Amino acid sequence: MAESTAEGYPPEQRDAIYKVIAERRDVRRGFRPDPVPADVLGRVLAAAHQAPSVGFSQPWDFIVITDRARRERIAALARRRRDEFAADLPGARARAFDQLKIESILDTPVNIVVSCDRTRGGRHTLGRATQPRTADFSSVLAVANLWLAARAEGLGVGWVSFFAERELAAELGLPAHLEVIAYLCVGYVTEFAPEPELQTAGWARRRPVAWAVHAEEFGRRGMPGEEPVDPLADLLAAIAPADADAMTAARERQDRMTKPRGSLGALEDVSARLAGLAGSCPPPLPEPACVAVFAADHGVHAQGVSPWPQEVTAQMVANFLAGGAVVNAFAAQAGAEVTVVDVGVAADLEPVPGLLPRKIGRGTADFTAGPAMTRDQAVAAVVTGAEIARDLVAAGNRCLVTGDMGIANTTASAALICAFTGADPAEATGRGTGIDALTYAKKIEVVCRGLARHQPDPADPLAVLAAFGGFEHAALAGFILGAAALRVPVILDGVIAGAAALAAVALAPDAIAACFAGHRSAEPGHAVTLSHLGLRPLVDLGLRLGEGTGALLALPLVQSAARALRDVATFDSAGVADKL
Ligand SMILES: Cc1cc2nc3c(=O)[nH]c(=O)nc-3n(C[C@H](O)[C@H](O)[C@H](O)COP(=O)(O)O)c2cc1C
Repeated sequence: MAESTAEGYPPEQRDAIYKVIAERRDVRRGFRPDPVPADVLGRVLAAAHQAPSVGFSQPWDFIVITDRARRERIAALARRRRDEFAADLPGARARAFDQLKIESILDTPVNIVVSCDRTRGGRHTLGRATQPRTADFSSVLAVANLWLAARAEGLGVGWVSFFAERELAAELGLPAHLEVIAYLCVGYVTEFAPEPELQTAGWARRRPVAWAVHAEEFGRRGMPGEEPVDPLADLLAAIAPADADAMTAARERQDRMTKPRGSLGALEDVSARLAGLAGSCPPPLPEPACVAVFAADHGVHAQGVSPWPQEVTAQMVANFLAGGAVVNAFAAQAGAEVTVVDVGVAADLEPVPGLLPRKIGRGTADFTAGPAMTRDQAVAAVVTGAEIARDLVAAGNRCLVTGDMGIANTTASAALICAFTGADPAEATGRGTGIDALTYAKKIEVVCRGLARHQPDPADPLAVLAAFGGFEHAALAGFILGAAALRVPVILDGVIAGAAALAAVALAPDAIAACFAGHRSAEPGHAVTLSHLGLRPLVDLGLRLGEGTGALLALPLVQSAARALRDVATFDSAGVADKL
C-alpha cells in the first residue's frame, strides 16, 4: 500500500514550523552589513512565490533593491512621512515614538518591494470578481511566506509602511496598475528579539488569543474545547482590591521624600492609590493617556428636559472628530489622545478616523414610558465599554479618561444617581446645559415619574442601567470596569461619568480602586455621587460642560503625583536633614 500523504508532519518538523512562526520578528535594529548570497535570496523569493492566491492569479512581483543611491532617495521619502505622522501625535505618544526605529532602509543590504497587480488574469479571476481586495490579500500572503522563510535562513525582515504609495511607486518605475503592498528591509542580524519591539517598548501588547477566537458567532469568545467566555462575568472576576502593601510603601516613601510630611496634600493620596492600583511603588507613570468620549441619544429628550435639539449630539460628535471642541483643546494641552465612541447616537455617522462605531441602538427609549433599554442592551453596552478600555490599553495607553456627549443625559444621570444613592430628585437634578425654572421643575418631575415607574433596586445595577440608560452611561460603566480589571487608572469627568461609576461600583465594589475623580461639576447630583463613592475631586472650577473636559484638567495632577513618587529624592538619598 502506498504511504499516505495525509499525515501530519513528524513532531520535530511540526515543532520547527511553530518555532519559525513564533520566532519571526519585525527587525529594525542590529543588522549586519554582510551581503545576502544570491542563492539564499532566491530560496526566500521562491518561498514567497509559493503563496496561495485568489484564482491562482499570483498578483505579486518582487522588486529587489540594492543600489545605495536609490535606497537613500527612498529613505528620504519615508523620513518625510514619519515626521508628518510624529507632528500629529499627542505629547507622551510623540516622545515614545521618538524612541522607536521605524525603518532600516540603509542599514540592510537588500530591500524587497512586493507589489500587487489587481488586473492580472483578466476579468474572470475566481474569487476576485466578488471581492477585489483578495488580490491584495494574496500578495500579503507572499510577504508572510517570505518573512517566515527569511527567519529560517537567519535573515531579519523589517516592513516599512511610512510611504505615500504613488510616490514610492514612481521611484520604482511601477506601472500605474501595480500597487505597492510591502516595502521590506532584509539582512543578516546579530540577534532576533524574543518579543515584538513595540511590546518591549510598552507601545502596544499582544492580545490574548482567547480574545480573538469566537464560537459560532461574533462575541461568543473562547478557545475551542472551552466554555464560551461570559464577558461580563469574566470582567467582574478580574477586578480586585488595591494592593495594601504597595499603598503602605507609597505612604512611607512620601514621608521620606525631601518635603515636609503631607505637604503634597491630596496628591499624596492620589500617588498612594496609584501604587495600590498598580501593585508597585513607585507605580508606572499614567501616560500616554486617552480620553474616550462616549456619545448617545436619549428617549427622555421627548419630555422637553433640554433646550437643545437632539441632533446636537451628532453635530458635536462631528466637532470632536474635526478637533474643534473644548475636549480637543484640553486634550491637546494635556497631551492626550481623543477617541469618540458612538454607542447610541440617533443618526448615521460617517466613518472617519478617531470614531469607533459601536452603536447598541439608535438612542434609548423614553424612561418615563418604559425601560430605556433592554437588559441585553445594557450588558452589551457594558461589555463594549470594557472592550474599548482593553483595546486602548493594549494600544499602549496607561491612563484612561472618561468623556461623554448626549443631549438630555443629565436627566438620565439624575435618575441613575437617585436610584443608586437614594437621593431626592430635587437634590440630584441640575440645570444641565442651562434651563429656565419651568423646564427645571419639569425635569425634576420627569425624574420622579421615572423612579416611580421603575421602582429601581440598586442591588440589580443592570436593571437600573436598563431602566434609565443611556447607552453612554452603561458603556462608561464598562469602561471603568475595564480599566479596573487591567489595573489602569481612569479619571472620571463630571456627573455623567459619576452616574456610570455608581453603576460600575455597584457591579464590582473593588472597581473604586481604579477611579480618580477629575473634578466636581456644578451639577448638584455630582456632589452627591462623589460623596457616595468616597472620591475627592481634584479640580473644582464650576465646570458643567462634560465631554471629558474636567477630567483632562486633572490629568497633569494625577501624572505629577505619580512622577513625584518616582523621581523625588528621599532625605537619606539626598543627604538632607529631616525635621527633628
Ligand atoms: C502591514 C504592516 C506594516 C508595518 N509597517 C511598519 C513600519 O512602517 N515600521 C515599523 O517599524 N514596523 C512596521 N511593521 C511591523 C510591526 O510593527 C510589527 O510586525 C509588530 O510590532 C509585531 O512585531 P513582530 O513582527 O516582531 O511580531 C509593519 C507590520 C505590518 C504587518
